[in-house]
Amino acid sequence: MAHLTGQERAQYVQNMFGRIADRYDRMNRLMTFGQDVTWRRYVIDKANVPPNGRLLDIATGTGDIAFEGWARNPTIQTVGTDFSYEMMDAGRRTYPERRVIDWADSDALALPFPENHFDAVTSGFLIRNVIDAEKSLSEQLRVLKPAGTVVVLESSPPKDNLLKPFIKIHLNYVIPLIGRIVTGQSDAYQYLPSSTQKFQTPNALANTMRRVGFVGVGYRMFMFGTIAVHFGRKPLD
Ligand SMILES: C[S@@+](CC[C@H](N)C(=O)[O-])C[C@H]1O[C@@H](n2cnc3c(N)ncnc32)[C@H](O)[C@@H]1O
Repeated sequence: MAHLTGQERAQYVQNMFGRIADRYDRMNRLMTFGQDVTWRRYVIDKANVPPNGRLLDIATGTGDIAFEGWARNPTIQTVGTDFSYEMMDAGRRTYPERRVIDWADSDALALPFPENHFDAVTSGFLIRNVIDAEKSLSEQLRVLKPAGTVVVLESSPPKDNLLKPFIKIHLNYVIPLIGRIVTGQSDAYQYLPSSTQKFQTPNALANTMRRVGFVGVGYRMFMFGTIAVHFGRKPLD
């Protein structure tokens, strides 16, 4: 789990999402008190895909963000890609209306799309899981059109403040307990808090995005500072 590195970690993540795919959405609603829907809407607000534009949602899972993008603007082409067949299949089976998404199987570290192709690239809860965050962000930059938008939704390590002990109880005890009851896969919901607490701070992630080449980078925090939505643009030249 969180101590794993390289391909071992990638395989663990892929296998884990395969095991929880059918219960993933229900678990999200429960552990975020339904707030995850608001964050995904904000991701699509920031993506700001123009009419007839192209949206790529990587690590799309069951397609929540991708479908929100299409529902907001049905003139766009929406591509949802993930390396877990089971997650995408759960999305297709559970929500037949998501057939409007062009589903594609791919690793976020090697996107099978040409450069300068998409108006926006979004991701939800991917960047903490990839074995090379810079490589994944570089791939997102490559497939974006100049001035195209990147939006990254991810959990953040709790800040040092009065709420920290309560947030740590929610992360380390409440989420694993609900996860065990709802999915029967306790390791998956131990991995989530453990990888969150080891992940980059929002400022560090913003700097990583700048280093990779994005401009206009900023972020907004949600849920007592435990969730961040980062955004930025590909430069014009
Ligand atoms: C926590 S789920 C998020 C799903 C969806 N984006 C959402 O917001 O609910 C993380 C997803 O990332 C996918 N994922 C993790 N690493 C990946 C990689 N290297 N390439 C493609 N997908 C990856 C997993 O298969 C899983 O579906």
